[in-house]
Amino acid sequence: MQDELKLLGGAMVTLALATSALVVVPHMQLKDGEPPPGLKPYSSAELRGRQVYIANGCIYCHSQQPRDPVQAPDDKRGWGRASVAADYHYDKPHLLGTMRTGPDLFNIGARQPSVDWHLGHLYQPRAYVAGSIMPAYPYLFEVKDKADEGDRVVTLPRGYTPAGKVVVARQEALDLVAYLVGLDHTYPAVETLGTQRERK
Ligand code: HEC
Repeated sequence: MQDELKLLGGAMVTLALATSALVVVPHMQLKDGEPPPGLKPYSSAELRGRQVYIANGCIYCHSQQPRDPVQAPDDKRGWGRASVAADYHYDKPHLLGTMRTGPDLFNIGARQPSVDWHLGHLYQPRAYVAGSIMPAYPYLFEVKDKADEGDRVVTLPRGYTPAGKVVVARQEALDLVAYLVGLDHTYPAVETLGTQRERK
């Protein structure tokens, strides 16, 4: 019995230490952080689009955490400077992601600001990038005989619009694209406690 108690006690202490070092202490250090001046809060359309992003599992192929040049050549890939804690001020939950089957999207709004491009690319990625393995999201759109008033018609490259029809973006697609074009963290990094590192 004595040994079991020791084992259990040891496990509890280890867990408590790990939780405070990895969760409690970082939370205390970062909780009062101010948002960077260059970071805008999400609009309501962007927040809805964020939910569409989560619901459709974009995170399973796209990260939102450009890395330091020491870890990966993300700056050379055009994905932007390494992100810091303050960049995620309005992100609850954060969408860091780990998989990079597709490019990092933390600065996609700066890299690709065209709403038309994003709508068309979501409708059919292969219309823009030959051989793309990104899934198409046709259910975010409606294929109609003709556009009604107020419809957002998607302009696709030649040959991708079904003959005699128009492709119209549903609200989910418009919200998702509002979110994507709003992803721009190209302002200078704000150093907060915990992200400070020696600069050479
Ligand atoms: C199965 C993996 C996969 C999933 C899921 C996925 N993508 Fe992609 N995505 C890719 C790949 C691969 C590329 C690069 C080829 C291309 O542009 O089509 C890409 C490219 C992109 C680009 C262009 C990036 C650039 O730098 O040009 C955007 C924007 C994008 N995806 C958004 C999304 C959104 C939004 C979702 C969810 C609705 C999503 N992706 C889901 C794999 C994926």
